[in-house]
Amino acid sequence: MADSVWTVGKVAKRCGVKVSTLHFYESKGLIHSTRSSGNQRLYKSDVLRRVSVIKAAQKMGISLASISEAFSTLPDRRTPTQKDWQKLSSKWQAELNERIGYLEKLRDLLTGCIGCGCLSMKNCPIYNADDKLNTEGSGGVLLEKQFTGRKSDRL
Ligand code: FES
Repeated sequence: MADSVWTVGKVAKRCGVKVSTLHFYESKGLIHSTRSSGNQRLYKSDVLRRVSVIKAAQKMGISLASISEAFSTLPDRRTPTQKDWQKLSSKWQAELNERIGYLEKLRDLLTGCIGCGCLSMKNCPIYNADDKLNTEGSGGVLLEKQFTGRKSDRL
């Protein structure tokens, strides 16, 4: 086996992910393999960078769908270069800033609620009397509306 060809186990160990995670990434088209004569998945070494980019993006809260969309803009399914990565991350900048702003507001609001317990109908940001918002989505609907004026698609 050439040095530049990696088995799924070797990639998993090197990247610190489960084999099943790599299978999942592959099923989503985020990474690609070829097969050996024994039907074993084989990856080129550039898969390491690709998985690293996926992991970094996921840590920033970027969805796999968004990562997949970004990867699909790369020609020939190639691995992002430094220049590509800068382009991808600048595309995600606005999304990240929005998320950071959301989390800061959430932190500030919930800090007030923790230990309060009043669930004031007038003032509490998490109070949802009689589950009135149950038709508008799951979890955190009121909070999301307060921050963005729209329903949540991620909570
Ligand atoms: S529980 Fe008192 S303000 Fe939310």
